[in-house]
Amino acid sequence: MSSTHVSAHMAAASPARRYTGTAMAAHWLLAIGLLSAIGLGWYMTGLPFSPARLKLYNWHKWLGVSLLALSLLRLLWRLGHKPPPLPAKISEAMPAWQRLAHHATQHAMYLLFFAVPLLGWAYSSAAGFPIVFLGQIPLPDFVSPSAELAEAIKPWHGASAWALTALIAVHVGAALKHQFLDRDGLISRMLPGRG
Ligand code: HEM
Ligand code: HEM
Repeated sequence: MSSTHVSAHMAAASPARRYTGTAMAAHWLLAIGLLSAIGLGWYMTGLPFSPARLKLYNWHKWLGVSLLALSLLRLLWRLGHKPPPLPAKISEAMPAWQRLAHHATQHAMYLLFFAVPLLGWAYSSAAGFPIVFLGQIPLPDFVSPSAELAEAIKPWHGASAWALTALIAVHVGAALKHQFLDRDGLISRMLPGRG
């Protein structure tokens, strides 16, 4: 029997137990991309002025803009594709605050997937550094150059990025708690494989 046949059969009997391949691909691609952007942002700001630092700033901006585009595609896709509901056994074992935290963390992460790169872009434009994607495609400035505005926006890109980092830590911590303390198999919802 083909696997599509099996999953179609199971879907008829019970709701899907795991995220789709598209959702998993988006999750893991963006997880790696976001952690790279965070690591790069943190590393490059500590470097002394040099051509190397300038190069890394450009890479950071190109990566950040790509993540913004990917997040937009992901969100549009996600609006039409509801994730599988939490299994009743897991959901019932969660106190109300944990169910709330589960949804609040994911919503706040989605919000920051947009806020962080848009603030970076706005800062870059205000500081008078237009973005030329991959050194080829000039992107529009959506705020005009202004030293005061740049100084005002600058801390918010960093602060929002650190807020995202904290949420990721909570999110991964929760995933590990489900895996190793509760042992309820929640992580398999986001991992390819059988079972
Ligand atoms: C940069 C790192 C990460 C980010 C930004 C991130 C973000 C997200 C988001 C936004 C969702 C919700 C997906 C949706 O419903 O559309 C999600 C779900 C999930 N993530 Fe992550 N994630 C990250 C890393 C990880 C890691 C390292 C793990 C495992 C240890 C993990 C495990 C999961 C699981 C199991 C779910 C599904 C939760 C459920 O069943 O409702 N994530 N993640
Ligand atoms: C999701 C995407 C992004 C993440 C996670 C991210 C993360 C970070 C982090 C962690 C820092 C270091 C902040 C600090 O230590 O104060 C940083 C700095 C910076 N980012 Fe991003 N960033 C993203 C997208 C962008 C984009 C799209 C741009 C511009 C087009 C950008 C421009 C900058 C600049 C210019 C700095 C240096 C700011 C300074 O000198 O303090 N970032 N970013």
